Order: sequence, then structure tokens, then C-alpha cells
Amino acid sequence: MIGRLNHVAIVVPDLQSASALYRDTLGASVTPPHDLPDHGVTTVFIELPNTKIELLHPFGKDSPIAGFLEKNPTGGMHHICYEVEDINEARDRLVNAGARILGSGEPRIGAHGKPVLFLHPKDFNGTLVELEQA
Ligand code: CO
Repeated sequence: MIGRLNHVAIVVPDLQSASALYRDTLGASVTPPHDLPDHGVTTVFIELPNTKIELLHPFGKDSPIAGFLEKNPTGGMHHICYEVEDINEARDRLVNAGARILGSGEPRIGAHGKPVLFLHPKDFNGTLVELEQA
């Protein structure tokens, strides 16, 4: 059911220095920061030949990643995102298998303008999993 690895998301305390690290030290292609007020995050994408790394920093005071940064002040890996062809079919299959969907349980439009779901990390070996309809 799952397809390509769409991205790995890393929460960072300082977007500018994290961008410089990937651009200058690791020699990667790095996009400018993009504020997503509806999602409470600012994103920077590291474009790799086979996938992307998404650097996330809290935007606004009700950011869903503020608590993560408090617990992990130097930053850390936040989630991995797999592509699926049909997000509703994926949701039904996972719910039937006993997996917990975060939030309302319904897909919502994610940071890339496509429908996404997040799966409970306790059901996936301690990893927050995002599914995105590619
Ligand atoms: Co993501």
C-alpha cells in the first residue's frame, strides 16, 4: 500500500543555521523558508535526488511542534511521510487493522496542498507516520 518515501521531517531550533548546514556543509539544494500559518510551522525543503528532507520550525504561538522543540531543544526527527495512491482506502485499511489516526480521523490538506493523515507513533514502533496522497 505505501509507496515512495515522500519526506523525512526534522524539527530545528534555528531554520537559518539548519539551512546553512544542509546547503554549505552537506552541499544540498535548499529552498527558502515558507510560512504556513494554518499549520503553525515554517518549512524549508532540502531536495535530494530520491526524496526530500523537511525542516520544520514553529510558526505562531499555538504551533503543534512547540512542545516537541521544548522536549528536544536541539531539534530532532519528527516524522516520516509515505505516499499512498488513495488516502481514504489507506485510512479504512489502517482503521480496520486497529491503527489509530491522529486528530479527527479524516484526511486533511497538508503542508504540500495534498490530503494527509498522521498515524499514532505507538502503533508504528515509536515513529510518527504521515501518509500523503501523491
Ligand atoms: Co510532513
